Order: sequence, then structure tokens, then C-alpha cells
Amino acid sequence: DTNTMWGGRFSGGPSAIMEKINASIDFDKRFYAQDIAGSKAHCAMLVKQGILTAEDGQSITDGLDKVLAEIEAGDFKFSPALEDIHMNVENRLRELIGDAAGRLHTARSRNDQVATDFRLWVRDAIDRLDDGLQVLQQVLIERAEEQVDTILPGFTHLQAAQPVSFGHHMLAYVEMVGRDRSRLKDARERLNESPLGSAALAGTPYPIDRHHTAELLGFNGPMRNSLDGVSDRDFALEYLSAASICALHLSRLSEELVIWSSAQFGFVRMSDSFSTGSSIMPQKKNPDAAELIRSKIGRVVGDLNSLMMSMKGLPLAYSKDMQEDKEPVFDAADTIELSVAVMTGMIAEMTVNKEKMRESAGWGFTTATDLADWLVRELGMPFRNAHHVTGAIVKLAEDKGCDLSDLSLAEMQTVDAAITDDVFNVLTLEASVASRTSYGGTAPNNVREQIKEARQRFL
Ligand code: ARG
Repeated sequence: DTNTMWGGRFSGGPSAIMEKINASIDFDKRFYAQDIAGSKAHCAMLVKQGILTAEDGQSITDGLDKVLAEIEAGDFKFSPALEDIHMNVENRLRELIGDAAGRLHTARSRNDQVATDFRLWVRDAIDRLDDGLQVLQQVLIERAEEQVDTILPGFTHLQAAQPVSFGHHMLAYVEMVGRDRSRLKDARERLNESPLGSAALAGTPYPIDRHHTAELLGFNGPMRNSLDGVSDRDFALEYLSAASICALHLSRLSEELVIWSSAQFGFVRMSDSFSTGSSIMPQKKNPDAAELIRSKIGRVVGDLNSLMMSMKGLPLAYSKDMQEDKEPVFDAADTIELSVAVMTGMIAEMTVNKEKMRESAGWGFTTATDLADWLVRELGMPFRNAHHVTGAIVKLAEDKGCDLSDLSLAEMQTVDAAITDDVFNVLTLEASVASRTSYGGTAPNNVREQIKEARQRFL
């Protein structure tokens, strides 16, 4: 029965489309466990405070356990007519235990209930992501350890700059992931206050004990303001922000894997398990997994933007707009957790071609800075002059089509007569890398030290 005024172009009646836009059960069933845990804590507190009899409390608790078991066994029938997870659970509880079920919602509203459930869910998501990132760090550190003495070209502008240790390069990502984890930790700390007991928005006249429910649910304490309690979604925004930056890091690493695994670079070979072939070109092995992760950041940042826009301009306290908070967070969590797991697998299984890296590190006069530094150190030249002299020598090599170390001493002396044979000691890639001993620099001995510290800091 469609609406007589405008129903002609609608296939379903108005109540059906209203149900469709209004119901959240299709997605919020994902936090059934948090919903039931929150209800059990609320119920225990009501009994402790004498608001509910011990008998009712017991039957509610037993009933909730039964509901949980049914959902986990896949025996639960979720109904869109009951809108959301909260009403689906409560309705089933009534079917199981009768009228006592109606007492559970005393001194509570769906507004503080959903805020509590969602915090608990995001808290778990933070912990899962942190675990995944730690495993990624472990794999990066292991690969770094095995590749400390592997030399690859370091780039700026994707132009060969100076040779660096591949272990050092891996450790750069360990640092980035370390900041991701520290952002998650910060977010978790701010998240971990309980909105439960804020009720609809103003608190409740019942003598509830919010500290008790907070403690039962592992929160540090209750949120201080009931209006804020039901209307804050900062915790979800912070999670999405941290996930976005993390996705950005994964995207940068993915881009490097794509470049490195091309035939022209050939620095690494992705394992078959993370590559695909081409349906037409038999020679192809494409780094699809890396490309997909490179792209996933779009989804995660989109999720962040989506929730930002939902929350923007909302007056206090609860508005139904806030039901739109869940899907972006679920999507971002699924996306980032999968990306981290796949990245971990790719890094663990890739084959490193040391010879190709080393060979490439020699192209593009990457030890030119070492030559300039030698002129400063050994001849007392001001760095600016040394830069100029080195430039002229590079030009010489370029014109000859050879590397710096292939020039003869006589050729170098045409640019500056004071240059001696000793200069050839600094023109090798190994010498260049080994010389960079400043704190945080790429010298292999530094890198070995950094690996030790990274293990202590992160694993
Ligand atoms: N399904 C709702 C949500 O996700 C639960 C809260 C409903 N509260 C209300 N006042 N309608 O936000």
C-alpha cells in the first residue's frame, strides 16, 4: 500500500522505505557482544544499588547469556522491524524470560547504550590493529637485520642521491608504524571513559553507580558530563584519523614495492602468493597486493571524512545522524586490518636482490657528496667550493660516460691539482655508507644498534 499522494513511483509502501532508512541492525549487529556485555554490567549495578531484585537480575543475566549463545551459534533471527541490535536483544530477552526483561532498561537509554557499545567495539579494534602493527614491525625488523649490509640507492625526488643500507630503509618504516601505534595508544586512553549512565542526555533520578559499571567494563572511570557522554564520537574520529595515517604509511611502502619489483629496478621479487599474472602477457607478474594497499587509503580517509561530515554541526545531544557513525568505522577497521596483514606477508616473503640494489646504487654519481666532503676534510676547502669542484668532476665523468671512481687521478687533477690518490678510498659505496655514523645515520654499525633498540622499544 503505497502513499496516495506520491506513492506512484515507489514500489514499497512508506513504512517499508522508512524501515529501510531507519534500521541499523544490518550493521550494528556487529557489536552484539559489546551490547550484551554492557547490559550485563548495567544489570549487575542495578542489583547492587537495590534498583533491581537479585532474582530479576539473575534471570536477566542468564537470559542475556542465552541470547549471546544463540547469536554465536547463528540461531538468532535479527529483525529490521526491531531497528537495531539493542531492541533485537531486548526483544529476544523478553521472549526468553518474560516481563523481567522490561526492567533492564531502567535508568538507561539507547543513547548511552549505543555510545557504550561503540566505545567498547572501537577499543577492541584499536587493540587488534595494534597487535597487527606489532607483527608488521617484527617482520620489518627481521628483514632489516638480515639486510644491514645490503646497499641500495637512497633517493630524493626519486633521483639517485646517496647509497644507504637496506636495513636502514626498513627501519624507517618501523619508526612510522611506531608512531601509528602510539597514536592508537593515545586514542585508546581518551576513549576509555564510560558513557553508561548518561541515560538519554541528562542523567537519571535512579541512584545508579556509574563508577561501578565503568569498572566492570574496563573503563578508567565514567565520563563527567552526561550530554557529552551521549553525543561524543571523538573516539571514533581519532581511531579513523590514526587509521588514515597508518594507511598512508602502508601506501608509501606499497609504492616502493611496486617500483622496486618492476623489471627496470628489480630490487625485490614479490612472492607468488602476493602476485598475479596477466591474462594476455605471459611474462607478467604483477604486484597486485601492493597496488591494492596503495589504494586503500582512499577508503579509509573517505571513512574519516564521512564521519566528520555526519558529526559536523550536530547540536547536543543525540541526533539520529549519529547512527551513521558505524559503517565507516567498520569499513575502515576491516580495510586497515587486512592491509596490515597483507603488507606483513609481502614483506616477510619478498626476495631481496642485493646485487641489483648494489649495482643500481652506483648509478648517478651517488658518492659525489663523499668526494665533496673529502675536499673539505683533506684540503681544507670551504664546502661551497668543494661542491663546485665536485660538480665539475661529475661533469667530467658524465661526459666520459663513466663512474666517479673510474676517472683517473690525472683526470681529477685537471679540475683541482691538489687532489691525491687517497680520494679513491671514499668513492666506494661501502665507504660512503660506513662513513655516515652520525646519530640516526645509515652506517651499518649504527643500524645494528638501532635494530637492538627497536626490538626493545616495540617488540
Ligand atoms: N540505532 C541507534 C544508533 O545507532 C541507537 C540509538 C537510538 N536512539 C534514539 N534516540 N533513537 O544510534
